[in-house]
Amino acid sequence: MSKQALSPMDPSSFSRPELVRITNIELNLSVNFDKKKLSGNVHLSVKKVDESVNEIILDTLKLSIQSVYELETKKDLKYTLFELIEEYGSKLVIELPDKDKKECVIAIEYETSPDASGLQWLEPNATAGKKHPYLFSQFQPTHARSVLPCQDTPAVKIKYSATISAPPEYTVLMSAIRNGTKELQSGRISHFVQDVPLPSYLIAIAVGVLESRRLGPRCHVWAEKELIEESAHEFANTEHQLETAEKICGPYVWGIYDLLVLPPSFPWGGMENPCLTFVTPTLLAGDRSLANVVAHEIAHSWTGNLITNRNFEHFWLNEGFTVFVERKILGLLESPQSQDFDAYGRVGDLEETVNLLGKTSPLTQLVIDLKGVHPDDAFSVVPYEKGQTFLRYLETTVGGPAEFEPFLKKYFDNFKYQSIETDDFKNFFEDYFSSNPNIKKIDWKTWLYAPGMPPVIPDYDKTLAVVCDEIIQKFIKWNDETPIPITEEEKEKLSSSQIIYVLEKISRADPQSTNKLEALNKLFDLDNVKNCEIKFRWFRTCLKAHWEEKVDAVLSWINVVGRMKYVRPLYRDMYSWEKTRTRAVENFKQNSKSMMHVVVFTLKKDLHIRE
Ligand code: BES
Ligand code: ZN
Repeated sequence: MSKQALSPMDPSSFSRPELVRITNIELNLSVNFDKKKLSGNVHLSVKKVDESVNEIILDTLKLSIQSVYELETKKDLKYTLFELIEEYGSKLVIELPDKDKKECVIAIEYETSPDASGLQWLEPNATAGKKHPYLFSQFQPTHARSVLPCQDTPAVKIKYSATISAPPEYTVLMSAIRNGTKELQSGRISHFVQDVPLPSYLIAIAVGVLESRRLGPRCHVWAEKELIEESAHEFANTEHQLETAEKICGPYVWGIYDLLVLPPSFPWGGMENPCLTFVTPTLLAGDRSLANVVAHEIAHSWTGNLITNRNFEHFWLNEGFTVFVERKILGLLESPQSQDFDAYGRVGDLEETVNLLGKTSPLTQLVIDLKGVHPDDAFSVVPYEKGQTFLRYLETTVGGPAEFEPFLKKYFDNFKYQSIETDDFKNFFEDYFSSNPNIKKIDWKTWLYAPGMPPVIPDYDKTLAVVCDEIIQKFIKWNDETPIPITEEEKEKLSSSQIIYVLEKISRADPQSTNKLEALNKLFDLDNVKNCEIKFRWFRTCLKAHWEEKVDAVLSWINVVGRMKYVRPLYRDMYSWEKTRTRAVENFKQNSKSMMHVVVFTLKKDLHIRE
């Protein structure tokens, strides 16, 4: 085991950047849709931190390595590729060329495996156009190693450049700035540069037949042509959201901010790939009501991308801060009431997760221990919601936004371009507020390391929730012998986020009769609703009521939509109802081939499938 040991600094990586460090990555790859492979080479600039060490340890996962040599001298370098450890990969140890050289460039010729966990190769029928295949990546948390040999830990930040060749009709996009495209007979070559250092999990690529529309001076949206107009309409406010984020966080350093609307199998709502946020098409509600996900990914431009968690045990520094900033953007763009309504509404999510994982589960701590736990297994809303709750508590404790927001800007400025852990934040906070008497009452230990719900739930503004709570109460108390006690007028006054709140509470209450639900369906036209957040909660409500008629609709939806936020709870709901358990498992088995690795990995556990 000792030869296979994961890093003491990052329990999810083999690499040891404290000894030898990668400073720059140059990728040269070609895209082969038939073989579902990327092949070519990578040039890694490496620098010794400890001069007594003469080897570098890299992370790889199912890569086939053809040769390793020093770029300058073309001399082969000795290397050892260790056995595969499930989900973590194979450690690659390369002997460095010369004991006296502090720096060198290593070239590695290699290709990826068709089942690389960080890539999804889609058949044409899984795209909107149905004519061409499509490729996209998702590297966070630890899947970059399945596409390039690297130090796959967020402790390491690198600049990168890339040259990608693809068939002529395809557009290649990356989390970088395009630096020229050449049309050759054999295909199209695209060049990219990313001069702001980023962690490996933020390298990203997508290849498809795509179009774009300008949204503003720094923003475009990319999508297949079938979705491009709808996407341009939905995300029209992106530039404005970005300007609002800058008011809170300071200048945006990444140059451009483009969006790519992916095919529906994309497993996340959004992914903050620098210069090119990836989003799920489930945000296309038609009325811009789900654009908060874009605000969230914009916020990551500071929290996560500029200041990065040193390893995923401190993931709350990425996600808790991002949710906190996302809500501040909402506060400025809409109202302080909306900001608080959003936060208040999510407390229920946190409760659901704490109950699911168990009140004493170590995974409900803000700072977690990832030794022996894969970060994809540890993922939950805890770092998001417990994290933002803690920041809100800190803000209130020091005297409110007028005190806290200037601190936030200082924090961004102080730690920009770095990877940090929780204590770096804590020390900086305590230093900054050292003369504030209230900080003595902050119980850091409980907030950071105690499992379960946060010790304090802030006193959120409930203006927007009260109306909803009245409607919910009326509905729950109603016995279906009289007409539904919600009037057309009351319904018209509700915003999309209020409808989401209402349905969520109903889905968490005791099961409702199908008669009552049918009346609700009629009033809100739930069977035909386009807003996926509403649809998701409607489906959960139906499953909870054991409404058999609706099961087909649930299955056909989750066979197209891969967003785990929806797919996992719906599968779990079907699993917990005996009548649908086998169908759920069978449906999963039939469709798992077209799902991304992480979705299969997590659903297998949700559905108790071993093998
Ligand atoms: N960075 C995350 C997505 C992620 C996290 C991917 C961990 C892989 C591992 C992204 O910023 C995110 O949080 N997305 C949310 C958006 C929501 C909180 C507004 C999502 O996908 O639903
Ligand atoms: Zn996020």
